[in-house]
Amino acid sequence: MHTLLNAIQQRHACREFAAGRPVLDEELALILQAGRLAPSAFGLEPWRFVVRSGTTETEAIAHACFDQPAVTTAPTLIAIVALVDALDPDSEYVRARFEAEARGEDTAPIYDAYRSLYHADTIAAWAQGQCHFAAAHMMLQAAHLGQGSCPIGGFDTDALTTALAIPSGETPALLIALGHCAKDAPERLRKPPD
Ligand SMILES: Cc1cc2nc3c(=O)[nH]c(=O)nc-3n(C[C@H](O)[C@H](O)[C@H](O)COP(=O)(O)O)c2cc1C
Repeated sequence: MHTLLNAIQQRHACREFAAGRPVLDEELALILQAGRLAPSAFGLEPWRFVVRSGTTETEAIAHACFDQPAVTTAPTLIAIVALVDALDPDSEYVRARFEAEARGEDTAPIYDAYRSLYHADTIAAWAQGQCHFAAAHMMLQAAHLGQGSCPIGGFDTDALTTALAIPSGETPALLIALGHCAKDAPERLRKPPD
């Protein structure tokens, strides 16, 4: 039976992807859709997903990730980019999201709660935390489709920002390397349940 727990058990950090096995467009669409549907605080969805497949650009991305094999061998990379400046409580972005989130009701209570939480110096980390939810959704959807993935947080932020031409006011939160895993999953290591 294809339970969700099967996909959770299938997913593992794949460090080497099989050559010549691209991620199909329809699979990628489902994976991105899973990311879109991830929860986010205040419904702010403070992310953008940047997809790169087999371009010369991926070489610069791999360098920014210290040439980790998962990145150099993956046919597709998804960068989850955190929207930071857009989260200013007075921004047009926040206004539009809160209008949607309020579903026709008054937005004032949402603004009050958000203004009491918002701190300019911690908002980038907060946004990156939200991005990790989208990443988890995408990796589980990938596992459900039989695709391998590896979350990559080990990167030089400045180099990755340049490689992806990320504008100021945004920052890369996480990269997902995607493809058919070249090797079987290693034994899962986890703390005992207690
Ligand atoms: C936020 C985050 C960043 C990670 N960064 C890297 C990375 O840069 N390189 C890598 O090989 N694995 C990375 N991983 C994968 C972890 O090493 C892996 O999930 C962990 O060892 C557990 O193994 P499993 O995912 O196979 O169960 C990262 C995982 C997370 C959640």
